[in-house]
Amino acid sequence: MNIKCGTDIIEIDRIKESIEIYNNSFLERIYTDKEIEYCESKKMQKFQHYAARFAAKEAVFKAISDKFENKYSISWKDIEILNDRNGRPYVEMKNQKQLMIENIDLSISHCKDYAIAMVVVEFYKM
Ligand SMILES: CC(C)(COP(=O)(O)OP(=O)(O)OC[C@H]1O[C@@H](n2cnc3c(N)ncnc32)[C@H](O)[C@@H]1OP(=O)(O)O)[C@@H](O)C(=O)NCCC(=O)NCCS
Repeated sequence: MNIKCGTDIIEIDRIKESIEIYNNSFLERIYTDKEIEYCESKKMQKFQHYAARFAAKEAVFKAISDKFENKYSISWKDIEILNDRNGRPYVEMKNQKQLMIENIDLSISHCKDYAIAMVVVEFYKM
């Protein structure tokens, strides 16, 4: 099968604590400049958006882990979560072609306590 899904749910307080304790070192390890810019623009709600992006990256890892045993050779910032002009999220994946990934679709939701992400990855036929 050339399609795999991945999902992740995260407590927003976990991400909030990491950002408050480790500040820039956590942000710079996990998030790209564009992701930080997007989340910071959300002001008081920013932790929900950071948590959602963390969940989205985990969901991508899960979706591709079956195909690639050494999933940790992919770093957090190799997976960038952006939004189109309608707000719909999408994934920019570094080395996407080399990873044999044809398409990635992503959906995100968040509320006061939790953020959730779900991805579907379509691989090129071998
Ligand atoms: C876009 C919309 C669905 C977001 O839903 P919400 O309950 O406010 O917010 P959620 O927490 O569930 O989801 C937020 C995420 O939705 C995603 N999102 C935003 N706009 C989107 C869109 N146009 N398409 C897909 N996903 C979208 C984003 O990823 C956002 O998170 P992010 O800003 O961190 O990237 C909502 O604002 C909306 O426009 N609803 C219209 C509903 C409607 O017209 N229904 C008619 C019958 S179907």
